[in-house]
Amino acid sequence: MAAINRLLLAIYTLLSLYSLATAQSYIGVNYGEVADNLPPPDATVRLLQSTTISKVRLYGADPAIIKALAGTGISVVIGVANGDIPSLAGDPAAASQWAAANVLAYLPASSISVVAVGNEVLSSGDSSLASQLLPAMQNLHSALSTAAPSVKISTVNTMAVLAQSDPPSTGAFHSDLIPGLKGILGFLNETGSPFMINPYPYFAYRSDPRPETLAFCLFQPNSGRFDGNSKINYMNMFDAQVDAVRAALDATGFPSTEIVVAETGWPYKGDDGEVGASVDNAKAFTSGLVAHLRSMAGTPRMPGRPVETYLFALYDEDLKPGPTSERSFGLFKPDLTATYDAGLSRSASSTPTAPSAVPKGKKGTMGWCVPRDGVSDEELQADLDYVCGTAAMDCRPIQPGGACYLPNTVRSHAAYAMNVLYQTSGRNPWNCDFRQSATLTSTNPSYEGCVYPGSQ
Ligand SMILES: *[C@@H]1O[C@H](CO)[C@@H](O)[C@H](O)[C@H]1NC(C)=O
Repeated sequence: MAAINRLLLAIYTLLSLYSLATAQSYIGVNYGEVADNLPPPDATVRLLQSTTISKVRLYGADPAIIKALAGTGISVVIGVANGDIPSLAGDPAAASQWAAANVLAYLPASSISVVAVGNEVLSSGDSSLASQLLPAMQNLHSALSTAAPSVKISTVNTMAVLAQSDPPSTGAFHSDLIPGLKGILGFLNETGSPFMINPYPYFAYRSDPRPETLAFCLFQPNSGRFDGNSKINYMNMFDAQVDAVRAALDATGFPSTEIVVAETGWPYKGDDGEVGASVDNAKAFTSGLVAHLRSMAGTPRMPGRPVETYLFALYDEDLKPGPTSERSFGLFKPDLTATYDAGLSRSASSTPTAPSAVPKGKKGTMGWCVPRDGVSDEELQADLDYVCGTAAMDCRPIQPGGACYLPNTVRSHAAYAMNVLYQTSGRNPWNCDFRQSATLTSTNPSYEGCVYPGSQ
């Protein structure tokens, strides 16, 4: 059995390393063009190819970008402007024309994955436009379903479509949106298209700017937030927000509709008084999110598979109105240098986390949960406090006099504690995620009189 575990671990490690070296199907980026200083399309394409980003979302259907991405394997989400919705809704011929000019003209050279009809329409307060959304989606679907069946039709929502999201298990759509949403969700379900939404932990922090909220939003050590209904202790805001969306979809009768995160990001700069906007925070959020997606832990309600996520944004948009933060989400500068190291580089010098992937359905076969190399004692102490305190696991063996007390180091005690939580919480990959500070191993960490749970 141990040999099989070792073999499986070796295979998963190789697969994970392979996926780290190539583009990752679940990492995308938003390319907004409200700017006058953007690099030429071919330079942007070369930049994308130097990263693990494999998907781009445009807000419109810029022909130069779509053509430049032809043959790269990088897929594109294109957008229908809100102003085009009425004509597409009212006239099937207009929808056919739009589809021919903006989708069919580029296939198959370019890979167009989704047409996002309208942006943030349902929470815009424009009920007339909202009522035209579904007919526009249906007309575009009719125009494309035969000629381009792989192109999905969806629409992008803000978190404001939720009336409630905390705790995540109580996630629910606004009751006045539900009648309209049911039609749209039925369409997405029927056509196998994703529900697209923009969760921003940054905005959650802005409305609750306490240090513990910041740590929760930035994938940093924190004691988590316990959801009393699901009994899940959430360790980061991204998972909590995405699972609230999952709960809302489930409650509306659409448990198999996939969620795509169409935007999420953190500004690296803001005006005086714009709390939380800094390079350090932007780097912590984005690199923490990328590492979390790569851990393959998924979210507690959707384990074992990362949510497809489009980072906001590729470049700053210098012509956007509003506070400085609105123009300061860019991962890259117009000269193609990185604003900060987000862990997206394809080269070996990026800092991907060690693989801890366990494919779905293989739970419980992976041995023991231990700290990753390079994680600080401070982080491990926070994990230890969480396991032995908040989660109330049996930590007596690492207390003075216990069989695993020596060596009396934070790392050794954290290893024991992380493994106890993993073994007693179902041996699922996400039980060994913590904040990406733990990993699974097939090597039994037991020693002398200290037997780790999970050892037969
Ligand atoms: C979702 O689609 C599936 C497969 O087509 C269907 O069986 C199911 O009834 C649909 N659910 C709803 C709520 O429409």
